[in-house]
Amino acid sequence: MYLGIDLGTSGVKAMLIDGDQRVVGSASGKDVETARLHAGWSEQDPADWIRATEEAIASLRAAHPAEFSAVRGIGLSGHMHGATLIDADDKVLRPCIMWNDTRSHKEAAALDADPRFRKITGNIVFPGFTAPKLAWVKNNEPDTFAKVRWVLLPKDYLRLWLTGEHLSEMSDSAGTSWLDTGARKWSAELLAATDLEERQMPGLVEGTEPAGTLRPELSSKWGLGEGVVVAGGAGDNAASACGMGTVREGTAFVSLGTSGVLFAANASYLPNPESAVHAFCHALPNTWHQMGVILSATDALNWHSRVTGASAADLTKELGEALQAPSSVTFLPYLSGERTPHNDAAIRGAFLGLGHESGRPVLTQAVLEGVSFALRDNLEALKSAGTRLSRVTAIGGGSRSRYWLKSIATALDLPVDLPADGDFGAAFGAARLGVIAATGANPTEVLTAPATAETIEPEAALTAAYEDAYQRYRRLYPAIRAAY
Ligand code: XUL
Repeated sequence: MYLGIDLGTSGVKAMLIDGDQRVVGSASGKDVETARLHAGWSEQDPADWIRATEEAIASLRAAHPAEFSAVRGIGLSGHMHGATLIDADDKVLRPCIMWNDTRSHKEAAALDADPRFRKITGNIVFPGFTAPKLAWVKNNEPDTFAKVRWVLLPKDYLRLWLTGEHLSEMSDSAGTSWLDTGARKWSAELLAATDLEERQMPGLVEGTEPAGTLRPELSSKWGLGEGVVVAGGAGDNAASACGMGTVREGTAFVSLGTSGVLFAANASYLPNPESAVHAFCHALPNTWHQMGVILSATDALNWHSRVTGASAADLTKELGEALQAPSSVTFLPYLSGERTPHNDAAIRGAFLGLGHESGRPVLTQAVLEGVSFALRDNLEALKSAGTRLSRVTAIGGGSRSRYWLKSIATALDLPVDLPADGDFGAAFGAARLGVIAATGANPTEVLTAPATAETIEPEAALTAAYEDAYQRYRRLYPAIRAAY
């Protein structure tokens, strides 16, 4: 038996799979709260992650006691880029500054202006990434900065609690702005540029390799044997890719979660920071991936749901299933700024083209289309970074809406595959990495793709109308940018 633990932005999910990769069960802890003390800030208390992990594991154990006691390997996945600052006694120094926290946009711009960062990491220094957060802490909380003994990514803080080890792996570390992404090692030069040293960073392994064993106290508390291996694991996007088998060149997925991601696996390192594409290490050795990231995907629909007082499910139901041509209303989903392709932390969202006749369904339609067009922007960015896709697989909560899937297929003009029933997300990918680390199995034999249940084709009758609406959408960002 193998356990995958996914530290998500809103909560922790634990999944148990057997040696044949069948899902035995999964459970979640109570939600983790995000504090938003000021506009653009987003923080979580790492103690909450441990609490939620313990809750998830307790309910998984209660539901499957015999199976759980046979766990031999654990894999970890987590939201990326967060700065978890640890002192010399392994105590957390301040709440984690999360991936969607954009307070450090000035520090990010300053680091990004130093050409070494793009050259060595292959990426823009985005405000969400870890290095500018440390620069912000140094500038604004110098006493805390002086006490930083370790900088850990969120899932690696869970590892510290699970194993006592300060270790990370390549896929998550590539999102710090301190990794030499092509060489898969820390860059002492970039660390020095933010007044840090390599001794403050965790040791690095590949995601498929062992990275610690479960502490004896936890083994006995959870009724497990000795020597349970904890795999390096992966950042949540690479972990989802492992769950979906998106590890071979040419395979890709679109994830409709809080944020939206267009992810393509690459057999070589293909950086192109100018297009704001992320070029990161994958969780398996010698493999990389590219990804375009939009900051608000289901978050945009959730915002619309809060404002209208109708649930997201009711809002999408109101649209029916038949795809409509875009109306005159356009929505820009930049509720917390945007990464790909604009790299603009300060931009905010907009509804444009409203008329007296624009009721709730039209606004909902525009919100879904806005996210689809933002994903199309990502497809164009990936193209300019040398990646051509012929189809994508859809994952994440938003993929439950048929309407949205049709809208995405039409906006991307690509077939969108839906995996056969099952849960192939980050927790499953993490559990698979647990299998590989504990058994030494060949990664490509474990990380296979699920069967496709159905393919949503672009609506040929609407592709021209979608293209027009996309071109209008493209013109609006520079206009709004100039107006502000
Ligand atoms: C990726 C990113 C998000 C987070 C949240 O660069 O910031 O996808 O990993 O899940």
